[in-house]
Amino acid sequence: MRSQNTAVGRNPEGRNPEGVVTRGTTGINRLRRSDRWTVHEAVTTRMLMQTPNALAVDLGYGAMPVTTLEWAARLRTVRPDLRVVGLEIDPDRVVPGRNGVEFARGGFELAGLSPTLIRAFNVLRQYPEAAVAPAWERLRSGLAPGGLIIDGTCDELGRRCAWVLLDERGPRTLTLAWSPFHVDRPSDLAERLPKA
Ligand SMILES: C[S@@+](CC[C@H](N)C(=O)[O-])C[C@H]1O[C@@H](n2cnc3c(N)ncnc32)[C@H](O)[C@@H]1O
Repeated sequence: MRSQNTAVGRNPEGRNPEGVVTRGTTGINRLRRSDRWTVHEAVTTRMLMQTPNALAVDLGYGAMPVTTLEWAARLRTVRPDLRVVGLEIDPDRVVPGRNGVEFARGGFELAGLSPTLIRAFNVLRQYPEAAVAPAWERLRSGLAPGGLIIDGTCDELGRRCAWVLLDERGPRTLTLAWSPFHVDRPSDLAERLPKA
């Protein structure tokens, strides 16, 4: 049985977090396109507004927690009382909480939490393609009822982005977002498509 979202930092079975440590590359405002979409898209905003005790988990926030803090501030324009937790598999990257956001060690098992919304950006991109389906399955099994997952990738400055929205049953949509000033052809996004 999963926890009631009260404690983080340890998975329920007491085992190591699931997954592997990868490069921690991140950057200020890098995930802005996905964040804007999340706070304007009807499916995500409805879910955020209607779910009691909503919890958002940013899985794999990287070498610094800046994108998690930005995400929390943007999501709270839709749901001011939203609980936000950043999980990182690398214990050296876990930082003290700030701005009402918690940080803890965790992997695909989600540290025993049952989030309403999971974001994993530029995480599965660094895994082999064969690892994606089992990771999605594991994350979907950890969702709260009606919950959603955003699995995405982008370039260093967030000018080329792509993300998949999943629910408990599987992938629902693929979104491509890019800067028209920095991308000549839509096919230039191909190198940033999600692994699966
Ligand atoms: C490239 S960084 C992405 C940082 C941030 N999400 C972004 O897009 O700017 C990927 C991070 O995911 C972490 N990571 C990889 N697998 C993970 C897993 N299974 N659970 C939690 N974190 C994971 C890595 O340790 C790394 O710090």
